Parts: sequence; structure tokens; C-alpha cells
Amino acid sequence: MKVKVAREAHFNAAHRLFNAAWSDEKNKQVFGKCNNPNYHGHNYKLIVEVKGEINPDTGYVIDLGDLASLIKTEIEDRFDHKNLNLDTKEFKNLNPTAENIVVVIYRILREKIDNKFELNIKLYETERNLAEYGGE
Ligand code: NI
Repeated sequence: MKVKVAREAHFNAAHRLFNAAWSDEKNKQVFGKCNNPNYHGHNYKLIVEVKGEINPDTGYVIDLGDLASLIKTEIEDRFDHKNLNLDTKEFKNLNPTAENIVVVIYRILREKIDNKFELNIKLYETERNLAEYGGE
């Protein structure tokens, strides 16, 4: 019997979407406001879902306090109040779309969470736009 538990977290970060191989006009056409050369911010909402067996000793799948600490040290401390393009090595050469950010977050956390657990990440860039990645 597998149960899914989840922890929500937030970080604020700035970004600019662009493709260096394209003209300014094409970048503007494809990425719109997110191509603004002076960057802009988003309040990202992150949902980290962990699925696994209930540990009979604790009654937990995973200690959500431990998961919260992991998200803080590995994700919030790394990206909160950062300019993703300029301040992070992860997005120096990777367009910081919600899709790419969610994959980066998945890979960082996957290394720190026991493989006996399934991991799925949801990242809301706005209230209405989200990307989701579970390792496929
Ligand atoms: Ni944007």
C-alpha cells in the first residue's frame, strides 16, 4: 500500500526567457513579457510529492519536517531572491522556464531522497501556470 504525502514551499526569483541563437524580434515574439531585458520576478509555488509505503514504526511515509528542511536547504536557499539567469549556475546556460526549473528541482531533490520513494514535483509560476515532472 503506497501513500502520497506532499510539502508546499515558496520562493521568489527573477528571470528572463531568451534564446541567444535568435534575434531580439523573435525572442520578443516567442517569450513576450518574460523576454523583458531587465528581468522580472515570479512568486513560485513548489509542491514536492513523495509516495511510498507507510513506515509501521512511525506511521509516516516520510517525516515532512525532514522534507521541509531538505527543500529549504537545497531549493529555497539556492533560488530564493535570486536572479535565476545571473545568480545561479543551474540557469547560466539553461532557459529558466517553469519546465526547466521543475526538472532542475527534481534532479536536485532526487539525489537526496531515498530511491524507495517515488518523487513528483509541481512548480507554479503563477496561480494559473504550472509545470510538473516526475522523472520520466
Ligand atoms: Ni516570467
